[in-house]
Amino acid sequence: MSEPSWWQRGAIYQIYPRSFSDSNGDGVGDLTGIIAHLDHLAALRVAGVWLSPIYPSPMADFGYDVADYCDVDPVFGTLADLDRLVAECHQRGIKVLLDWVPNHTSDQHPWFVASRSSRDNLKRDWYVWRDAALGGGPPNNWRSAFRAVGGAWTFDDATGQWYLHSFEEEQPDLNWENPEVRAAMHDVLRFWLDRGVDGFRIDVAHMLAKDPALGDNVPGQPPHSEDWPTIDERLREIRRVVDEYPDRMLVGEVYLFDLRRVVSYVSGGDKLHLAHNFVFVKLPWSAPAFRAAIDDFDALAEAASWPAWFLANHDHPRAASRFDTDGQGEARARAVALILYALRGTPFVYQGEELGLPDAEIPPDRIVDVDGRDPERAPIPWRPPSVAGPGAGFTTGEPWLPLVADAEQLCVEAQESDPRSALALVRRLADLRAAMPVLQTGVQTTLDAGPDVLAWRRQDGDDRVLTAVNFAPASGNLALDGPATLLLSTDPDRALGPVAGGGLELAPSEGVLLRLL
Ligand code: GLC
Repeated sequence: MSEPSWWQRGAIYQIYPRSFSDSNGDGVGDLTGIIAHLDHLAALRVAGVWLSPIYPSPMADFGYDVADYCDVDPVFGTLADLDRLVAECHQRGIKVLLDWVPNHTSDQHPWFVASRSSRDNLKRDWYVWRDAALGGGPPNNWRSAFRAVGGAWTFDDATGQWYLHSFEEEQPDLNWENPEVRAAMHDVLRFWLDRGVDGFRIDVAHMLAKDPALGDNVPGQPPHSEDWPTIDERLREIRRVVDEYPDRMLVGEVYLFDLRRVVSYVSGGDKLHLAHNFVFVKLPWSAPAFRAAIDDFDALAEAASWPAWFLANHDHPRAASRFDTDGQGEARARAVALILYALRGTPFVYQGEELGLPDAEIPPDRIVDVDGRDPERAPIPWRPPSVAGPGAGFTTGEPWLPLVADAEQLCVEAQESDPRSALALVRRLADLRAAMPVLQTGVQTTLDAGPDVLAWRRQDGDDRVLTAVNFAPASGNLALDGPATLLLSTDPDRALGPVAGGGLELAPSEGVLLRLL
């Protein structure tokens, strides 16, 4: 393989800015807060950071409702702060990805304000407006992705038509059939690329192509509301814009469960560089299920299609909670980190995963999200509350969401001084990946290691490593063909070093990384 790109070598770390670090005491994280903690990211050797949206927004969907694509919301800071963040990241060799939200704007975006003002406004066709269906009611049967919202259409009294919103009513869908919309959204990319941003995470990339005839969705058939055949050309156009600049990267949120479709977004070398694989994030804690998901992607991918692995983000329960059956949540969160870093592909690490954070308890009167995603968005605990107060170093004010209960033990400062911590493990994983080309680009083969053990080999010339994770809540045997060196275990009690040929007894939920001799 040729020299790997920056986004293949190390992990991409997702920052959810509201919850990372608050520098001004308003209870909401901000860009200056992020800058204050870049050394934490440097110590994790991240290749890049992806910032969830920082643009001006009424925050109906906490920034995924954008009112101006080319500025920074005052709650996060200023454009100058963002420039400083990019410069400070680049100084540390960290790339910066922004979250591009092209499917919809805020209903407060000047484009939508104009569009809804009258049927003959020049921006009318920038959004998806339709008359009622024959006999009344919404134009078709499409549903919002948020269950609490219900249908995907809202009637606008002033102009007597319905508009499409695949999410909240405050998030009208742009009309990607309109070439003016496409050109305007491409210019948004250029605006940020010109400022030195290294790429984008594309929000709901699969929704940029819908049936222009707005046909009803029919259960069991490919949906009309997303992933329409025009998607290939839309993605190619986007890629061409990004390729006007050297060494940039696009990763798509491709929320599709047919892996063939997902892989098509990253094949041909002229669409996305990476696609988030949601099959992976929805897996049950089962070795055969993980193996199948890994093998299925490999079987469908072209040699050049590079996987992206993630098991958490701001929309999904955290691994430490989701996999917490049999009291194994903490151990499994560690195993997840090993899986992400040792698989062939780019690991995406969601802020707090390096601490093994669980979801936070959100009392009913603190719920703010329409779709139940507050628990995984709890602020990062930086310092012990006993020292730094109840804001745990995240804020000196009242945090916008409650922190995890165990901030005293789980906070960064406590974990930094503990060689047995999840943070110490993730730093060690990042060090190994940085130091060992075999972990970056080595050829990968999954292995038969019994029903409860997920195992795979990576090989780069003579260098061979084996990763194995025991999915069982009981100990289990890992057979080895010959002598090996244990480089890392997720179990802090395990002694590292030479392992005799026979094999290794893995503790419940333990994962190991071995060099085969
Ligand atoms: C994506 C985002 C999610 C947001 C939605 C609408 O799924 O990850 O947080 O609510 O798009 O923009």
